[in-house]
Amino acid sequence: MVSQRIKHVSIIMDGNGRWANERNMPRSYGHRKGIDAVKKIINACLVRQISMLTLFAFSSENWIRPSKEITLLMSLFRESILNNMSNLHNNNIKVKFIGDMSKFDRNLIKHISDLEHLTHNNDGLELYFAVNYGGKWDIVNAINNHLKNVKLSTKKILEEDIEKNLTFYNNHPDLLIRTAGEQRLSNFMLWQHAYTELYFTDCLWPDFNENEFDEAIKFFYNKTRKFGGLQSIGKIEKNDK
Ligand code: IPE
Ligand code: IPE
Ligand code: MG
Repeated sequence: MVSQRIKHVSIIMDGNGRWANERNMPRSYGHRKGIDAVKKIINACLVRQISMLTLFAFSSENWIRPSKEITLLMSLFRESILNNMSNLHNNNIKVKFIGDMSKFDRNLIKHISDLEHLTHNNDGLELYFAVNYGGKWDIVNAINNHLKNVKLSTKKILEEDIEKNLTFYNNHPDLLIRTAGEQRLSNFMLWQHAYTELYFTDCLWPDFNENEFDEAIKFFYNKTRKFGGLQSIGKIEKNDK
């Protein structure tokens, strides 16, 4: 029987601004606190033996925010990479960034590629940061990549042609968590979430912690995944703790 262990968790980390607002603090304070929650959840994945974690950090639509907030977010990305590089590496984590990085400044791109390079051969948790990422971009990009490798006369594109050129080839998220009460995808992995279990919580991202994460995991294990069939595809086996 196929087991239904959670392999891949994706998270839309939302609510940093509201969290700061509730405290009469600037939005930047919420973003900074959000980084502490990121660290907690990475650690929770290590302890719970989850093999892939994908975090939505900046969407292709977030560029419409005030330039001051964007500058702050970019410097937080840079600072977080520098401060956490060796720790991520020492924990055997393989880090990858997904999204259209061409819009980032050269300095940030260099830090991103240094971190990817450093952790490239690690075989523990696969950690993906979605930055300047959009689900529509991912699909269009996959089609363009496919077209580069086929004859001009090719008229038909198959599902598999797109699938294998996406940021994830199979290995799609089992569980999506979105914090801060919104129940929408906001253009996050539109294709890859086709059969993902969706968990929404009112908890604002800076407050998200191991206990909240376990609530989401509990929700997942109470689901029967049928993928269009009549019965569960297999016995649900909890991840080892
Ligand atoms: C999520 O928090 C972080 C990013 C989108 C970068 P928000 O900044 O969206 O916080 P809210 O939704 O305004 O509370
Ligand atoms: C989604 O949050 C993007 C990230 C968490 C990076 P948003 O706050 O941008 O989403 P909307 O605008 O509420 O849909
Ligand atoms: Mg938001």
